Amino acid sequence: MKKAITHHPNALKVLLVAVLPMGATSSLAAQTPETIYQQTCSVCHDGQIASAPRKGDTAAWAPRLAKGKDVLLENVLKGYSVMPPKGMCFNCTNDDLRGVIDWMAH
Ligand code: HEC
Repeated sequence: MKKAITHHPNALKVLLVAVLPMGATSSLAAQTPETIYQQTCSVCHDGQIASAPRKGDTAAWAPRLAKGKDVLLENVLKGYSVMPPKGMCFNCTNDDLRGVIDWMAH
């Protein structure tokens, strides 16, 4: 007597791919001096704190620039007077900060 061989095919699991909404990814790589300034530095450097030199205020920046850009970067990194370390841009690299300082001072 022949034995009926019944196959029980494995149920195929259907994987539903959840499509993540576009634009949900971080755009940190797209930081430019201008966006960093607007998001962070301008909180103080746009007239709110009188002693914080404003963008493009060359008279206010001249004595700062005279110290040398390395000194300015150093002061921003460790904090200067009432300015907190990194000017509060915690995801900024040194190069980002160099770029913003340069941008602000002109
Ligand atoms: C919480 C307020 C605040 C924020 C935020 C801030 N600053 Fe400042 N910053 C100041 C003040 C106030 C001074 C002037 C301090 C003084 O000379 O007494 C200053 C000074 C500076 C100087 C001159 C330092 C020197 O040695 O003379 C640089 C450069 C500078 N800020 C860059 C930045 C950059 C770049 C950012 C953003 C990434 C930033 N700041 C964010 C308040 C701030």
